[in-house]
Amino acid sequence: MNVLLFGKRGQVGHELLKKLQQLGAVVAFDSTEVDFRDDEQVKHVLRQEQPDIIVNAAAYTAVDNAESESVLAHQVNATAVGHLASYANDNDALLVHFSTDYVFDGTKDGRYNEQDLCNSFSVYGTSKRDGEERIIESNCKHLILRTSWVYSNRGTNFIKTILKLATSKAELNVINDQVGVPTSAQLIATVTSQILSKYVENPVSLKEAYGTYHLSPSGETNWHEYAKFIVRTAMERGEHLQLPLEAIHPIPTSQYAQAAIRPKNSLLDTSKLRSAFQIELPDWQVDVEETICDLLTSRTTPYNI
Ligand SMILES: NC(=O)c1ccc[n+]([C@@H]2O[C@H](COP(=O)([O-])OP(=O)(O)OC[C@H]3O[C@@H](n4cnc5c(N)ncnc54)[C@H](OP(=O)(O)O)[C@@H]3O)[C@@H](O)[C@H]2O)c1
Repeated sequence: MNVLLFGKRGQVGHELLKKLQQLGAVVAFDSTEVDFRDDEQVKHVLRQEQPDIIVNAAAYTAVDNAESESVLAHQVNATAVGHLASYANDNDALLVHFSTDYVFDGTKDGRYNEQDLCNSFSVYGTSKRDGEERIIESNCKHLILRTSWVYSNRGTNFIKTILKLATSKAELNVINDQVGVPTSAQLIATVTSQILSKYVENPVSLKEAYGTYHLSPSGETNWHEYAKFIVRTAMERGEHLQLPLEAIHPIPTSQYAQAAIRPKNSLLDTSKLRSAFQIELPDWQVDVEETICDLLTSRTTPYNI
């Protein structure tokens, strides 16, 4: 089967490329090769490559910038995704797409399941929900995997930011009233390829399984506890940091100015995914520890994390 991957330079796309290549031939693009701002480029590459499986890890992910770039966010996260869905439907291809906890407003008491009402407070979340709707309305064979708080050892993410700040700051304020689950790009890629391997072996085996799923590790944390975990883990591995654990102070969201409103509760209920595909999800701390170790051992200069 021909697999076409978009977003190969992103956190998730980079990990996916490695995993998908174990399943068969993969053609992968970054934004310089296929730009989602250009409808014709997207349609053209689909016509040219004729994929059996489209995996879309490309997205406009700058959550705060999206508040002032709403047209661009919608183009990349919804309009372009609509073209992928339309191709998939017309050609009996499978579309695998990634979405976000930010489609929810975060006011629920308890974990969000796939049936819960989407009601994003942000442009980014709304654009991602619009993308999901384009896929669902197209009627194509699809898997939408919603995930949360993504990190990897590349790109910009919370782990790298905290490690950098901990090398120079004596004190740090971190939000403690937003709860969620950090998810490694590696876990997302592993689970995606596990599901796709079943499809590649026997496409009919997924016939009853198309739809939306929540994907994150088990457990939960908040940004403040997460920051402390990162610093503690790095220190335990011999890293000399300026920032003592007791100098990481909890603050409410109201004291941290950001353009976009984030959900206070980003917890996703993953039981549907675990039971549909017999997948076990590790505790979030396992992959975070591994990523910190990777970052500390692979860097080339003291603070080039
Ligand atoms: N990051 C998170 O915390 C988070 C949380 C929940 C869900 N998600 C979802 O998970 C998926 C992957 O996220 P990620 O963290 O891997 O994001 P990322 O690291 O920001 O990567 C996104 C990729 O999208 C590509 N892209 C952006 N604009 C594009 C355009 N106009 N045309 C074509 N490609 C474009 C970029 O390609 P280039 O590098 O080539 O420019 C980039 O590599 C997304 O669907 C995202 O919404 C992310």
